[in-house]
Amino acid sequence: MDIDEIKFHMKKLAEENKIPSQFKDTWNHSSFVWRHAKSIADKAIINGFKLDLYLLKQACFVHDIGRMFTGSKASKELMPSIEHGPLGYKFLSKYDPKLARSCVAHLGGIGLSKKESGLSKDIFANSIEERILAYCDARTQYQNGKIRFLPYCDAIKRFKKHGYEGKLLKNEKFIKKLLKH
Ligand SMILES: [Fe+2]
Repeated sequence: MDIDEIKFHMKKLAEENKIPSQFKDTWNHSSFVWRHAKSIADKAIINGFKLDLYLLKQACFVHDIGRMFTGSKASKELMPSIEHGPLGYKFLSKYDPKLARSCVAHLGGIGLSKKESGLSKDIFANSIEERILAYCDARTQYQNGKIRFLPYCDAIKRFKKHGYEGKLLKNEKFIKKLLKH
């Protein structure tokens, strides 16, 4: 699914579920995540790692498609937030199963077990592209109409609330390897 198709489906779903503003919010968030993901990917490539930049871009733009079903605090909460992962995964699996993984693999710092997602299998970020997305999404926060890239100490506080700090740390270490820090 290319970027225009992703945009088309997300806009359509948000309108069908009567939360049109959710499209704009999510698209802005996704663009922000992509900008950070691209800068990490560029450095990783310079450091000799092989990755698919276009796949990463697609994953960044589509990973929150499930928000078009659940809504969010900023628009209208139609379902619990965590549901946006499995719902996005189920929707996207019909079109692009490889890309569909990003809907769940970006959650919880490094993906979710089947028990956590309610799906029939565990989906953890394992490719470089999925790991960069999970890292950038975990560090991105939307607050009072502004999007910002969180320092590690703030990201860990946010993840501790859900018991995901171990997963976050695991992925942070992986990203450091890519950046050779
Ligand atoms: Fe996201």
